[in-house]
Amino acid sequence: MTKITRAQFDDVMVPNYVPGKVIPVKGEGSRIWDQEGREYIDFAGGIAVSALGHAHPALVEALTTQGQKLWHLSNVMTNEPAIELAQKITDNTFADKVFFCNSGAEANEAALKLGRRHAFLNTGPDKHEIISTLQSFHGRTLFTVSVGGQAKYKEGFEPTPGGISHVPYNDLAAMKAQISDRTAAVILEPIQGEGGITPATQEYLEGVRKLCDEHDALLIFDEVQTGVGRTGHLYAYQAYGVEPDILTTAKALGGGFPIGAMICTDKVAGSLAFGTHGSTYGGNPLACAVSLAVLNIITADGVLDEVVVKSERIKAALVKINEKHGIFKDIRGMGLLIGAELNDDWAGKAKDFVGAALEEGLMMLVAGPNVVRFAPSLIIPDADIDEGLARFEKAIEKLLNS
Ligand SMILES: Cc1ncc(COP(=O)(O)O)c(C=O)c1O
Repeated sequence: MTKITRAQFDDVMVPNYVPGKVIPVKGEGSRIWDQEGREYIDFAGGIAVSALGHAHPALVEALTTQGQKLWHLSNVMTNEPAIELAQKITDNTFADKVFFCNSGAEANEAALKLGRRHAFLNTGPDKHEIISTLQSFHGRTLFTVSVGGQAKYKEGFEPTPGGISHVPYNDLAAMKAQISDRTAAVILEPIQGEGGITPATQEYLEGVRKLCDEHDALLIFDEVQTGVGRTGHLYAYQAYGVEPDILTTAKALGGGFPIGAMICTDKVAGSLAFGTHGSTYGGNPLACAVSLAVLNIITADGVLDEVVVKSERIKAALVKINEKHGIFKDIRGMGLLIGAELNDDWAGKAKDFVGAALEEGLMMLVAGPNVVRFAPSLIIPDADIDEGLARFEKAIEKLLNS
């Protein structure tokens, strides 16, 4: 077979992505190798997806075992892995019911549609408004870019659906001014991910919950990025002790196999009655078997506690790096979703740091123009953390001296 090159991407792919120049071909744990055999440490986790690293033996086993039994049925039949997974999710969360789909955007579509339909059935068509927050990100479908709080993702795709408003994040007074009895649902990320790794304050989530209750509006938490152990809790809402009515989860749910879910209470689930919504692949047996293996590991004794310990290790090292080089104005986040915000001298240059890190054999992410984001495997070995941070510091030194 002829060797695939990066140039071929530009020949055959729609240009909505501009991937890096290396082509990874193999991963194991928190290490990745490219076509040339060069090794990288993975602090990106495929954008907070590979929660158990690459090629975890239990996930490979789940995939291959199910792969020899049954791949697909569609929802005209149910299947064992889907029901087992739904049971696991409901046993470990506030939720009573689960709808499976294939991505975060699709999970949010289901949540937003359910929010509107529930209000429609229980109050009437006027109660259809959705409140979201500025800087939020909820996916790339037309509904989710419309609900997302970043104008650039909507540009040129108008007209977008109506009845959606945006208020500043962590601003309870703004939410109070906007919410009304016409509000069907409020959607929030407990920690804004793409918007810059900005955690909600405790008072904010508690306050929004109260406002939703006062106005009979549903509260949707988008935990596509913060879910499945990322914060040191199975879901971030558990850290705050504030329960939503609907929660969306994807990314790490399949540990790299595509799956998403919208989960909710019994009180609202009934509004998505037979025929109102669906997805051909939702609840696919392969995806559900892998996802169950992911959740079995993440909910095992001690795993989430270790996420907190690893988080402290990374944050402490970043503080030290900053004492030496003075490049960050804030280091924040929860668990292994960490953002280091560049100070004003380096504003807008997060991409340069990620590029320099790649040169040193480290895969990282940005979260907006000013924040370098860390979303490694939840079980990344300490040795890989230390080696990755050493490579990061080397990249910083090179950038500062260039
Ligand atoms: C909070 C949040 N919601 C939704 C999405 C969209 O998920 P997907 O790309 O799987 O559609 C993302 C993706 O980054 C996200 O971070």
